[in-house]
Amino acid sequence: METKKKYFIETFGCQMNVHDSEKIAGMLIDLGYEESSSKENSDIIVFNTCCIRETAELKIMAKIGDTKALKKKNPNLLIVVCGCMTQQKGMSDILKKRFPFINLVIGTHNLNELEDYIKEYNYKSKFNSIVWDKEQEIKEDTKIYRTSKYNAWVNIMYGCNNFCTYCIVPYVRGRERSRKVEDIVKEIEELVKENKYKTITLLGQNVNSYGHDFNDGRTNFVYLLNEICKINGDFKINFMSSHPKDFSFELIDFIATHNKMSRALHLPVQSGSNSVLKAMNRRYTAEHYKALVDEIYKKIPGVSLTTDIIVGFPGETEQDFEETCDLLKHCRFSSIFGFVYSRRNGTPAATFENQVPDKVKQNRITRLFELQHQISREELQKMIDNKFEGVIEKDEKGNLILKTFNGKSIKLNEDNLEIGQVRKVLVTDIVNNELQGKVV
Ligand code: SAH
Ligand code: SF4
Ligand code: F3S
Repeated sequence: METKKKYFIETFGCQMNVHDSEKIAGMLIDLGYEESSSKENSDIIVFNTCCIRETAELKIMAKIGDTKALKKKNPNLLIVVCGCMTQQKGMSDILKKRFPFINLVIGTHNLNELEDYIKEYNYKSKFNSIVWDKEQEIKEDTKIYRTSKYNAWVNIMYGCNNFCTYCIVPYVRGRERSRKVEDIVKEIEELVKENKYKTITLLGQNVNSYGHDFNDGRTNFVYLLNEICKINGDFKINFMSSHPKDFSFELIDFIATHNKMSRALHLPVQSGSNSVLKAMNRRYTAEHYKALVDEIYKKIPGVSLTTDIIVGFPGETEQDFEETCDLLKHCRFSSIFGFVYSRRNGTPAATFENQVPDKVKQNRITRLFELQHQISREELQKMIDNKFEGVIEKDEKGNLILKTFNGKSIKLNEDNLEIGQVRKVLVTDIVNNELQGKVV
């Protein structure tokens, strides 16, 4: 029997990229490849990259550099670099200079063409770069190789129009483009048939502006959610990311009154200081954000809230930082993603003169995490002796857990539980910051 050629995809960055890698895998499987467990015995290695912060880029560059030795051992090995990093102006030249052994560089706008490029061209001996300037039209007949057994990612829109002054995403992912309601509903109907997937996570850079580009006076995010909720089946709907300026009170009411909507919400705030928010071009105030959170807690009992914070944005004073800490105390997130501001070439904030010194940034991020750890611990304590509903899953270590509908993981010391089932669990204890529980 002929052995199949093997692929290895290394993914960096956000869920959007994780899902793009499922599409890349779909294309490679279509070309006759099969998944490999390591780079060493692969025939093609794909780096699906991210450039949100400098640390991400440095890590990826080092990983690409590491493949030089593999390429020497196996000159037929194909090395492909795609994703947000490659879509930046001038990046192809940098990659060519540093890593001439790369076979193909493609951008985010022409990712769907990868299959054709590999089929049509002979990349074996030279460096090729094909990065489109313009976004490709949305393609609906993509093949997707899904890697999670529990959760299915579904793109509802691509791109971002917000231009937060620190952020590279609008430059590497293009303008907002929404998928048609019918196409999204059709995809989800297939995914939840026969109880296949228990959670569906809708993806977009700013899902709250879904449908605005149709300009039909009808299609918006709540309209889409309503159509999805009509689909038969026992499944929960998650979504990310939201933008507080477009997160409506109508949406809060919708979540509160629809059982299929997950009780875990991610609402990135970035800063608790109005002057920093203004300089970031976020277009809401800390007061508006807190009012949203108050309304969410009031209308959606048991909700678990998470957020993103940037510390050390240009011009951030100690007073500004304190206001961010105050916001954390007010909002009592169950956890946060905290980042040190990273200067991204081509974004407005990179040219701001009042950059914050590294030492100050590091000090602030440490203090931010200390504060949040304390809040997270207190919030976990409140869960003891309470019951939560969710889906039985296995964690990375193979332990049985209940993934609750408000986004928490509860460890279960039981064997006879069927994966994928919906069960209720009583939280009994916290060990090493992990919730422990038993099925009731
Ligand atoms: N579209 C999403 C996610 C954007 S990227 C949203 O708007 O929420 C994820 C997070 O990375 C952002 O929320 C922000 O907190 C962080 N981030 C983006 N650019 C950054 C930069 N230049 N430096 C540090 N963190 C950044
Ligand atoms: Fe970046 Fe802002 Fe768009 Fe999010 S909303 S992707 S932070 S520009
Ligand atoms: Fe995501 Fe990184 Fe791109 S966070 S959108 S993969 S720059």
